[in-house]
Amino acid sequence: MDKHFYQALAFEKPPERPLVACNMVTSLDGKVTADGTQPKSLGSAFDLSTMGIIRSHFDAVLAGGNTIRLHPYYLGVPARLERGRQEKGLASQPLTVLLTRSGDLDPTSSLFTKAPRPPVIITSAQGAENLPVAIIEQAQIEVMENAIPQAILQLLQDKYQVQRLLVEGGPSVNYQFMQAKLLDELFLTLHPSLIGKRTDLGLSAGDQVLELPETIKLLSVNQHDDELFLRYRITW
Ligand SMILES: NC(=O)c1ccc[n+]([C@@H]2O[C@H](COP(=O)([O-])OP(=O)(O)OC[C@H]3O[C@@H](n4cnc5c(N)ncnc54)[C@H](OP(=O)(O)O)[C@@H]3O)[C@@H](O)[C@H]2O)c1
Repeated sequence: MDKHFYQALAFEKPPERPLVACNMVTSLDGKVTADGTQPKSLGSAFDLSTMGIIRSHFDAVLAGGNTIRLHPYYLGVPARLERGRQEKGLASQPLTVLLTRSGDLDPTSSLFTKAPRPPVIITSAQGAENLPVAIIEQAQIEVMENAIPQAILQLLQDKYQVQRLLVEGGPSVNYQFMQAKLLDELFLTLHPSLIGKRTDLGLSAGDQVLELPETIKLLSVNQHDDELFLRYRITW
């Protein structure tokens, strides 16, 4: 099999904090959701395998509560990529990191029942109280009243030795990292589809216009069938 274009990647880690990248798939009209919340309606099987390869470069993969409730799976890599991770000095599986204020997570999902590593749940005191006991027993609970990206990165770096963090949405989580000027790279899959519906979400969703980054550099463009795989480096 041909080597995947993302198999060997070099990153420029900022000296004082973990490197942060985001990976998302959008339709041609810029939507990351299709009719609200339908899982798996965007991106191809190749995109799904690409997601695993991108994850294979990261110490931890983070997602927000809405995304996790829709896709309640460990944010890991297929077993065939574990060896490559070990050879790079990484743990066999990335650490899954979840953001929730509500604590509304399903303890019966495989994310908890079959987790290769205990997921880290960053939540409020109220959220921690709401978490089912079965989740508390399976996960590392981190209570943070104001979980701003800076604080999340500090915690992940200091306590979990995270040097590279991959953010996998959803748009409201992406926005927070962009607004804090803490997004260094964007992996973007452009899926040949048109969604059209006004209420579907774009790549980031927040209350204010984002400040313009200093530069957004296109690092690579790859094509597979009718899908495009773009990688950008962002300097704020
Ligand atoms: N196309 C793609 O590549 C892609 C990728 C990922 C997701 N998606 C889609 O995006 C949609 C979800 O996006 P979304 O913007 O609605 O939601 P989201 O970003 O997935 O999750 C938002 C939720 O995350 C938690 N959260 C966010 N920031 C937090 C913070 N600082 N501290 C603690 N908790 C925090 C809260 O969870 P609680 O509600 O539990 O309090 C919040 O309601 C889904 O339809 C999903 O399929 C698409």
